Amino acid sequence: MIQFPNNFYWGAATSSYQVEGNNVNADWWPWEILAGKEKSGPACRHYEFYEQDFDLAKSLNHNAHRLSIEWSRIEPKEGEFSGQAVQHYIDVIKALRSRGIEPMVTLHHFTNPIWFSDSGGWVDPGSVKRFLRYCDVVTRALAPHVHFWFTINEPTIYFSHAYLWGMWPPQARSFLKTRSVRDNMVDAHIGVYRLMHKIYKELNIPSPSVSFAHHMQAIVGCDQGLKNRLAVAMRVQLYNLEILDHLTKAKALDFIGVNYYSRHLVDVHSWWIGDLLMQTCKDNHHPLKKNFLGWDIYPEGLALVLLSLKKYNLPVIIAENGICTTDDNERWEYIQSHLRNVHRAMSQGVNVAGYLYWSLMDNFEWAYGYAPRFGLIEIDYNTHLRTVRESAKKYADVCRTGAVT
Ligand code: FCB
Repeated sequence: MIQFPNNFYWGAATSSYQVEGNNVNADWWPWEILAGKEKSGPACRHYEFYEQDFDLAKSLNHNAHRLSIEWSRIEPKEGEFSGQAVQHYIDVIKALRSRGIEPMVTLHHFTNPIWFSDSGGWVDPGSVKRFLRYCDVVTRALAPHVHFWFTINEPTIYFSHAYLWGMWPPQARSFLKTRSVRDNMVDAHIGVYRLMHKIYKELNIPSPSVSFAHHMQAIVGCDQGLKNRLAVAMRVQLYNLEILDHLTKAKALDFIGVNYYSRHLVDVHSWWIGDLLMQTCKDNHHPLKKNFLGWDIYPEGLALVLLSLKKYNLPVIIAENGICTTDDNERWEYIQSHLRNVHRAMSQGVNVAGYLYWSLMDNFEWAYGYAPRFGLIEIDYNTHLRTVRESAKKYADVCRTGAVT
Protein backbone atom coordinates (compact mmCIF):
# COMPACT_ATOMS: atom_id res chain seq x y z
CA MET A 1 0.00 0.00 0.00
CA ILE A 2 1.15 3.53 -0.71
CA GLN A 3 0.14 6.64 1.14
CA PHE A 4 -0.31 10.17 -0.21
CA PRO A 5 0.12 13.23 2.02
CA ASN A 6 -2.79 14.51 4.12
CA ASN A 7 -3.07 17.85 2.41
CA PHE A 8 -3.24 16.36 -1.11
CA TYR A 9 -5.91 17.72 -3.47
CA TRP A 10 -8.21 14.98 -4.74
CA GLY A 11 -10.99 15.47 -7.22
CA ALA A 12 -12.05 15.58 -10.83
CA ALA A 13 -12.15 18.02 -13.73
CA THR A 14 -14.70 19.23 -16.27
CA SER A 15 -14.89 22.02 -18.82
CA SER A 16 -17.82 24.33 -19.46
CA TYR A 17 -18.57 23.48 -23.08
CA GLN A 18 -18.37 19.75 -22.45
CA VAL A 19 -20.84 19.63 -19.58
CA GLU A 20 -22.96 22.79 -19.33
CA GLY A 21 -25.08 22.53 -22.47
CA ASN A 22 -26.49 25.13 -24.86
CA ASN A 23 -23.39 27.23 -25.26
CA VAL A 24 -24.89 28.82 -28.37
CA ASN A 25 -22.46 31.75 -28.47
CA ALA A 26 -19.31 29.61 -28.63
CA ASP A 27 -17.54 28.96 -31.92
CA TRP A 28 -17.90 25.17 -31.57
CA TRP A 29 -21.70 25.48 -31.69
CA PRO A 30 -22.04 26.56 -35.37
CA TRP A 31 -19.02 24.44 -36.29
CA GLU A 32 -20.66 21.20 -35.13
CA ILE A 33 -23.46 21.91 -37.59
CA LEU A 34 -21.14 23.04 -40.38
CA ALA A 35 -18.80 20.07 -40.02
CA GLY A 36 -21.65 17.57 -39.62
CA LYS A 37 -20.50 16.48 -36.17
CA GLU A 38 -22.55 15.20 -33.29
CA LYS A 39 -24.08 18.26 -31.63
CA SER A 40 -23.18 19.20 -28.07
CA GLY A 41 -26.79 20.36 -27.49
CA PRO A 42 -27.85 20.22 -23.84
CA ALA A 43 -24.71 18.20 -22.87
CA CYS A 44 -25.04 17.14 -19.20
CA ARG A 45 -27.22 20.18 -18.34
CA HIS A 46 -24.60 20.94 -15.71
CA TYR A 47 -25.39 24.66 -16.04
CA GLU A 48 -28.69 23.86 -14.28
CA PHE A 49 -27.66 20.83 -12.23
CA TYR A 50 -24.30 21.94 -10.84
CA GLU A 51 -25.50 21.82 -7.21
CA GLN A 52 -26.58 18.22 -7.58
CA ASP A 53 -23.29 17.34 -9.34
CA PHE A 54 -21.26 18.95 -6.56
CA ASP A 55 -23.31 17.04 -3.98
CA LEU A 56 -22.14 13.88 -5.72
CA ALA A 57 -18.53 15.09 -5.80
CA LYS A 58 -18.74 15.78 -2.09
CA SER A 59 -20.29 12.39 -1.40
CA LEU A 60 -17.29 10.92 -3.26
CA ASN A 61 -14.93 12.74 -0.87
CA HIS A 62 -13.49 15.12 -3.47
CA ASN A 63 -11.79 18.10 -1.87
CA ALA A 64 -10.96 19.87 -5.16
CA HIS A 65 -12.72 20.40 -8.46
CA ARG A 66 -11.50 21.89 -11.73
CA LEU A 67 -14.02 23.65 -13.93
CA SER A 68 -13.86 26.25 -16.68
CA ILE A 69 -15.58 29.55 -17.30
CA GLU A 70 -17.32 29.87 -20.66
CA TRP A 71 -16.01 33.09 -22.18
CA SER A 72 -18.90 33.20 -24.67
CA ARG A 73 -21.38 33.38 -21.79
CA ILE A 74 -19.47 36.11 -19.97
CA GLU A 75 -18.95 38.20 -23.12
CA PRO A 76 -21.53 37.07 -25.70
CA LYS A 77 -20.90 40.20 -27.81
CA GLU A 78 -17.60 42.03 -27.98
CA GLY A 79 -17.26 44.37 -25.01
CA GLU A 80 -20.71 43.46 -23.59
CA PHE A 81 -20.36 41.54 -20.36
CA SER A 82 -23.23 39.57 -18.91
CA GLY A 83 -23.68 40.32 -15.22
CA GLN A 84 -25.95 37.32 -15.01
CA ALA A 85 -23.31 34.94 -16.35
CA VAL A 86 -20.69 36.39 -14.01
CA GLN A 87 -23.09 35.88 -11.10
CA HIS A 88 -23.73 32.32 -12.22
CA TYR A 89 -20.05 31.45 -11.90
CA ILE A 90 -19.79 33.20 -8.53
CA ASP A 91 -22.67 30.98 -7.40
CA VAL A 92 -20.95 27.90 -8.85
CA ILE A 93 -17.72 28.65 -7.01
CA LYS A 94 -19.57 29.34 -3.78
CA ALA A 95 -21.44 26.05 -4.20
CA LEU A 96 -18.07 24.29 -4.25
CA ARG A 97 -16.69 26.23 -1.31
CA SER A 98 -19.77 25.58 0.80
CA ARG A 99 -19.17 21.85 0.27
CA GLY A 100 -15.53 22.14 1.31
CA ILE A 101 -14.30 21.64 -2.25
CA GLU A 102 -11.40 23.80 -3.49
CA PRO A 103 -12.29 25.35 -6.86
CA MET A 104 -9.61 25.31 -9.58
CA VAL A 105 -10.68 27.54 -12.43
CA THR A 106 -9.72 27.47 -16.11
CA LEU A 107 -10.28 30.61 -18.15
CA HIS A 108 -10.03 29.12 -21.63
CA HIS A 109 -10.80 25.51 -22.45
CA PHE A 110 -10.77 25.24 -26.27
CA THR A 111 -13.88 27.35 -27.03
CA ASN A 112 -14.06 31.01 -28.01
CA PRO A 113 -16.96 33.42 -28.40
CA ILE A 114 -18.18 33.48 -32.02
CA TRP A 115 -17.40 37.20 -32.31
CA PHE A 116 -13.80 36.50 -31.24
CA SER A 117 -13.33 33.82 -33.88
CA ASP A 118 -14.95 36.07 -36.48
CA SER A 119 -12.40 38.77 -35.70
CA GLY A 120 -9.51 36.43 -36.48
CA GLY A 121 -9.46 34.25 -33.36
CA TRP A 122 -6.08 33.57 -31.80
CA VAL A 123 -4.22 34.36 -35.04
CA ASP A 124 -5.08 38.02 -34.70
CA PRO A 125 -2.55 40.13 -32.77
CA GLY A 126 -5.51 41.80 -30.97
CA SER A 127 -6.49 38.45 -29.45
CA VAL A 128 -4.25 38.91 -26.43
CA LYS A 129 -5.87 42.24 -25.52
CA ARG A 130 -9.36 40.78 -26.01
CA PHE A 131 -8.62 37.78 -23.81
CA LEU A 132 -7.08 39.96 -21.10
CA ARG A 133 -10.15 42.19 -21.00
CA TYR A 134 -12.34 39.13 -20.34
CA CYS A 135 -9.90 37.77 -17.75
CA ASP A 136 -9.88 41.12 -15.98
CA VAL A 137 -13.68 40.95 -15.50
CA VAL A 138 -13.62 37.33 -14.32
CA THR A 139 -10.66 37.78 -11.97
CA ARG A 140 -12.17 40.80 -10.24
CA ALA A 141 -15.41 38.92 -9.72
CA LEU A 142 -13.94 35.61 -8.56
CA ALA A 143 -10.73 36.65 -6.80
CA PRO A 144 -12.30 36.58 -3.32
CA HIS A 145 -13.31 32.94 -3.83
CA VAL A 146 -10.59 31.38 -6.02
CA HIS A 147 -6.93 30.65 -5.32
CA PHE A 148 -5.98 28.22 -8.13
CA TRP A 149 -6.20 29.28 -11.76
CA PHE A 150 -5.42 27.72 -15.12
CA THR A 151 -5.23 30.40 -17.79
CA ILE A 152 -5.43 28.23 -20.92
CA ASN A 153 -6.12 24.54 -21.29
CA GLU A 154 -3.63 22.63 -23.47
CA PRO A 155 -2.44 25.38 -25.80
CA THR A 156 -0.32 22.88 -27.74
CA ILE A 157 -3.36 20.67 -28.42
CA TYR A 158 -5.49 23.69 -29.27
CA PHE A 159 -3.13 25.13 -31.85
CA SER A 160 -2.19 21.80 -33.41
CA HIS A 161 -5.80 20.55 -33.72
CA ALA A 162 -7.38 23.84 -34.78
CA TYR A 163 -4.59 25.36 -36.91
CA LEU A 164 -2.18 22.65 -38.02
CA TRP A 165 -4.17 19.44 -38.51
CA GLY A 166 -7.44 21.21 -39.34
CA MET A 167 -9.46 18.94 -37.08
CA TRP A 168 -11.21 21.56 -34.95
CA PRO A 169 -12.64 24.98 -35.74
CA PRO A 170 -11.52 27.01 -37.63
CA GLN A 171 -9.95 24.02 -39.42
CA ALA A 172 -6.88 25.83 -40.69
CA ARG A 173 -3.87 23.95 -41.96
CA SER A 174 -1.16 26.52 -41.75
CA PHE A 175 2.21 26.44 -40.09
CA LEU A 176 2.37 30.24 -40.00
CA LYS A 177 -1.04 30.56 -38.35
CA THR A 178 -0.13 27.84 -35.88
CA ARG A 179 2.95 29.80 -34.91
CA SER A 180 0.96 33.02 -34.43
CA VAL A 181 -1.59 31.22 -32.25
CA ARG A 182 1.18 29.71 -30.21
CA ASP A 183 2.87 33.08 -29.72
CA ASN A 184 -0.38 34.83 -28.87
CA MET A 185 -1.41 32.18 -26.37
CA VAL A 186 1.96 32.32 -24.65
CA ASP A 187 1.74 36.13 -24.49
CA ALA A 188 -1.84 35.86 -23.25
CA HIS A 189 -0.78 33.51 -20.47
CA ILE A 190 2.02 35.82 -19.34
CA GLY A 191 -0.33 38.83 -19.53
CA VAL A 192 -3.05 37.11 -17.48
CA TYR A 193 -0.52 35.83 -14.98
CA ARG A 194 0.68 39.39 -14.29
CA LEU A 195 -2.81 40.84 -14.38
CA MET A 196 -4.08 38.36 -11.79
CA HIS A 197 -1.24 38.97 -9.42
CA LYS A 198 -1.80 42.72 -9.79
CA ILE A 199 -5.55 42.45 -9.13
CA TYR A 200 -5.08 40.26 -6.05
CA LYS A 201 -2.61 42.78 -4.68
CA GLU A 202 -4.99 45.67 -5.36
CA LEU A 203 -7.79 43.80 -3.63
CA ASN A 204 -5.52 42.87 -0.75
CA ILE A 205 -6.07 39.14 -1.24
CA PRO A 206 -3.18 36.67 -0.73
CA SER A 207 -1.42 35.90 -4.05
CA PRO A 208 -3.16 33.39 -6.30
CA SER A 209 -1.52 30.26 -7.75
CA VAL A 210 -1.61 30.59 -11.52
CA SER A 211 -0.60 28.11 -14.19
CA PHE A 212 -1.93 26.61 -17.41
CA ALA A 213 -2.88 23.00 -18.13
CA HIS A 214 -0.16 21.45 -20.25
CA HIS A 215 -0.87 18.36 -22.31
CA MET A 216 2.13 16.06 -21.92
CA GLN A 217 2.63 12.69 -23.52
CA ALA A 218 5.25 10.13 -22.58
CA ILE A 219 7.47 10.32 -25.65
CA VAL A 220 9.37 7.07 -26.06
CA GLY A 221 11.30 5.39 -28.85
CA CYS A 222 10.29 2.09 -30.42
CA ASP A 223 13.93 1.11 -30.25
CA GLN A 224 17.13 2.82 -29.19
CA GLY A 225 18.44 3.49 -32.69
CA LEU A 226 20.12 6.82 -33.33
CA LYS A 227 17.24 8.31 -35.32
CA ASN A 228 14.73 7.43 -32.63
CA ARG A 229 16.91 8.74 -29.84
CA LEU A 230 17.40 12.01 -31.67
CA ALA A 231 13.68 12.26 -32.47
CA VAL A 232 12.70 11.57 -28.86
CA ALA A 233 15.06 14.26 -27.59
CA MET A 234 13.76 16.78 -30.13
CA ARG A 235 10.11 16.04 -29.41
CA VAL A 236 10.46 16.04 -25.63
CA GLN A 237 11.98 19.48 -25.94
CA LEU A 238 9.56 20.82 -28.54
CA TYR A 239 6.24 19.31 -27.42
CA ASN A 240 6.71 18.95 -23.68
CA LEU A 241 9.34 21.31 -22.34
CA GLU A 242 9.74 24.33 -24.62
CA ILE A 243 6.63 26.15 -23.43
CA LEU A 244 7.56 25.44 -19.80
CA ASP A 245 11.10 26.74 -20.35
CA HIS A 246 9.64 29.90 -21.84
CA LEU A 247 7.07 30.49 -19.10
CA THR A 248 9.38 29.68 -16.21
CA LYS A 249 11.96 32.07 -17.65
CA ALA A 250 9.25 34.73 -17.80
CA LYS A 251 8.44 33.91 -14.14
CA ALA A 252 4.83 33.29 -15.11
CA LEU A 253 4.10 29.96 -13.43
CA ASP A 254 3.31 29.39 -9.76
CA PHE A 255 2.89 25.66 -10.34
CA ILE A 256 2.70 23.31 -13.31
CA GLY A 257 -0.62 21.86 -14.45
CA VAL A 258 -0.22 18.53 -16.24
CA ASN A 259 -2.79 16.70 -18.36
CA TYR A 260 -1.59 13.17 -19.03
CA TYR A 261 -3.37 10.42 -20.94
CA SER A 262 -1.09 8.38 -23.12
CA ARG A 263 2.12 7.46 -24.87
CA HIS A 264 3.63 8.78 -28.08
CA LEU A 265 5.69 6.00 -29.64
CA VAL A 266 8.44 7.30 -31.89
CA ASP A 267 9.59 5.23 -34.86
CA VAL A 268 11.55 7.23 -37.43
CA HIS A 269 12.76 5.86 -40.76
CA SER A 270 14.53 8.85 -42.30
CA TRP A 271 16.54 11.90 -41.34
CA TRP A 272 13.94 14.23 -42.84
CA ILE A 273 12.88 16.83 -40.28
CA GLY A 274 9.17 16.10 -40.81
CA ASP A 275 9.73 12.46 -39.92
CA LEU A 276 11.99 13.30 -37.01
CA LEU A 277 9.26 15.49 -35.59
CA MET A 278 6.17 13.49 -36.44
CA GLN A 279 6.62 9.89 -37.51
CA THR A 280 5.17 7.43 -35.01
CA CYS A 281 5.11 3.65 -34.85
CA LYS A 282 2.44 2.15 -37.08
CA ASP A 283 3.62 -1.46 -36.78
CA ASN A 284 2.33 -2.29 -33.32
CA HIS A 285 5.86 -3.09 -32.13
CA HIS A 286 5.10 -2.71 -28.44
CA PRO A 287 1.34 -3.22 -28.14
CA LEU A 288 -0.41 -1.94 -25.04
CA LYS A 289 -4.03 -1.98 -23.92
CA LYS A 290 -5.93 0.93 -25.42
CA ASN A 291 -8.81 3.11 -24.34
CA PHE A 292 -12.09 3.40 -26.29
CA LEU A 293 -10.50 5.94 -28.63
CA GLY A 294 -7.45 3.76 -29.29
CA TRP A 295 -5.00 5.70 -27.10
CA ASP A 296 -2.30 3.55 -25.49
CA ILE A 297 -2.64 3.03 -21.76
CA TYR A 298 0.82 3.64 -20.36
CA PRO A 299 0.83 4.39 -16.60
CA GLU A 300 4.66 4.40 -16.34
CA GLY A 301 4.60 7.37 -18.69
CA LEU A 302 3.04 9.55 -16.04
CA ALA A 303 6.07 9.04 -13.77
CA LEU A 304 8.34 9.73 -16.75
CA VAL A 305 6.57 12.98 -17.53
CA LEU A 306 6.50 14.09 -13.89
CA LEU A 307 10.19 13.36 -13.44
CA SER A 308 10.96 15.52 -16.48
CA LEU A 309 9.47 18.45 -14.53
CA LYS A 310 11.77 18.12 -11.55
CA LYS A 311 14.21 20.68 -12.91
CA TYR A 312 11.60 23.45 -12.70
CA ASN A 313 11.32 23.02 -8.97
CA LEU A 314 7.65 23.97 -8.92
CA PRO A 315 4.65 22.21 -7.40
CA VAL A 316 2.70 20.12 -9.91
CA ILE A 317 -1.02 19.52 -10.09
CA ILE A 318 -2.30 16.74 -12.30
CA ALA A 319 -5.10 18.70 -13.89
CA GLU A 320 -6.41 15.80 -16.02
CA ASN A 321 -5.82 12.07 -16.21
CA GLY A 322 -8.42 9.57 -17.25
CA ILE A 323 -9.76 6.89 -19.52
CA CYS A 324 -12.78 6.48 -21.78
CA THR A 325 -13.99 2.92 -21.64
CA THR A 326 -17.13 0.82 -21.61
CA ASP A 327 -15.58 -1.38 -18.93
CA ASP A 328 -15.62 0.37 -15.58
CA ASN A 329 -13.10 -2.10 -14.11
CA GLU A 330 -10.60 -0.72 -16.60
CA ARG A 331 -11.27 2.76 -15.26
CA TRP A 332 -10.40 1.73 -11.73
CA GLU A 333 -7.24 -0.08 -12.93
CA TYR A 334 -6.29 3.02 -14.89
CA ILE A 335 -6.68 5.28 -11.84
CA GLN A 336 -4.85 2.91 -9.54
CA SER A 337 -1.92 2.28 -11.86
CA HIS A 338 -1.51 5.96 -12.66
CA LEU A 339 -1.64 6.93 -8.99
CA ARG A 340 1.10 4.43 -8.24
CA ASN A 341 3.24 6.24 -10.77
CA VAL A 342 2.38 9.63 -9.32
CA HIS A 343 3.54 8.33 -5.98
CA ARG A 344 6.72 6.94 -7.53
CA ALA A 345 7.58 10.34 -9.00
CA MET A 346 6.84 11.98 -5.64
CA SER A 347 9.16 9.59 -3.85
CA GLN A 348 11.84 10.66 -6.34
CA GLY A 349 11.43 14.30 -5.45
CA VAL A 350 8.61 15.70 -7.60
CA ASN A 351 6.31 17.88 -5.54
CA VAL A 352 2.85 16.80 -6.69
CA ALA A 353 0.09 18.63 -4.84
CA GLY A 354 -3.04 17.16 -6.38
CA TYR A 355 -4.71 14.76 -8.78
CA LEU A 356 -7.86 15.52 -10.75
CA TYR A 357 -9.46 12.68 -12.66
CA TRP A 358 -10.90 13.48 -16.09
CA SER A 359 -13.80 13.64 -15.78
CA LEU A 360 -16.33 13.99 -12.99
CA MET A 361 -19.01 12.86 -15.45
CA ASP A 362 -19.38 11.58 -18.99
CA ASN A 363 -19.45 14.51 -21.37
CA PHE A 364 -19.09 15.92 -24.88
CA GLU A 365 -15.73 14.70 -26.13
CA TRP A 366 -15.24 17.36 -28.82
CA ALA A 367 -15.12 16.02 -32.38
CA TYR A 368 -15.86 12.48 -31.08
CA GLY A 369 -19.18 13.50 -29.56
CA TYR A 370 -20.79 11.55 -26.73
CA ALA A 371 -19.60 7.99 -27.39
CA PRO A 372 -16.38 8.08 -25.29
CA ARG A 373 -17.25 7.63 -21.62
CA PHE A 374 -14.68 9.27 -19.38
CA GLY A 375 -16.89 9.85 -16.34
CA LEU A 376 -16.71 8.76 -12.73
CA ILE A 377 -20.42 9.43 -13.00
CA GLU A 378 -22.45 8.00 -15.84
CA ILE A 379 -24.82 10.32 -17.70
CA ASP A 380 -27.95 9.03 -19.37
CA TYR A 381 -28.26 11.57 -22.18
CA ASN A 382 -32.00 10.94 -22.61
CA THR A 383 -33.04 11.49 -19.02
CA HIS A 384 -29.94 13.32 -17.75
CA LEU A 385 -29.95 10.98 -14.79
CA ARG A 386 -26.64 10.59 -13.00
CA THR A 387 -25.34 7.21 -11.84
CA VAL A 388 -22.21 6.89 -9.75
CA ARG A 389 -19.92 4.22 -11.18
CA GLU A 390 -18.14 1.61 -9.05
CA SER A 391 -14.75 3.08 -10.00
CA ALA A 392 -15.93 6.39 -8.52
CA LYS A 393 -16.65 4.68 -5.22
CA LYS A 394 -13.24 3.06 -5.13
CA TYR A 395 -11.61 6.37 -5.99
CA ALA A 396 -13.71 7.92 -3.19
CA ASP A 397 -11.85 5.69 -0.71
CA VAL A 398 -8.55 6.96 -2.06
CA CYS A 399 -9.77 10.55 -1.69
CA ARG A 400 -10.78 9.86 1.91
CA THR A 401 -7.72 7.94 3.08
CA GLY A 402 -4.96 8.95 0.63
CA ALA A 403 -4.11 5.24 0.42
CA VAL A 404 -3.70 3.30 -2.83
CA THR A 405 -3.23 -0.45 -2.94
C1 FCB B 1 -8.03 16.69 -23.03
C2 FCB B 1 -8.97 17.87 -22.92
C3 FCB B 1 -10.30 17.54 -22.27
C4 FCB B 1 -10.80 16.20 -22.67
C5 FCB B 1 -9.73 15.14 -22.54
C6 FCB B 1 -10.18 13.75 -22.88
O1 FCB B 1 -7.12 16.91 -24.05
O2 FCB B 1 -8.38 18.91 -22.20
O3 FCB B 1 -11.20 18.58 -22.58
O4 FCB B 1 -11.34 16.26 -23.93
O5 FCB B 1 -8.64 15.48 -23.32
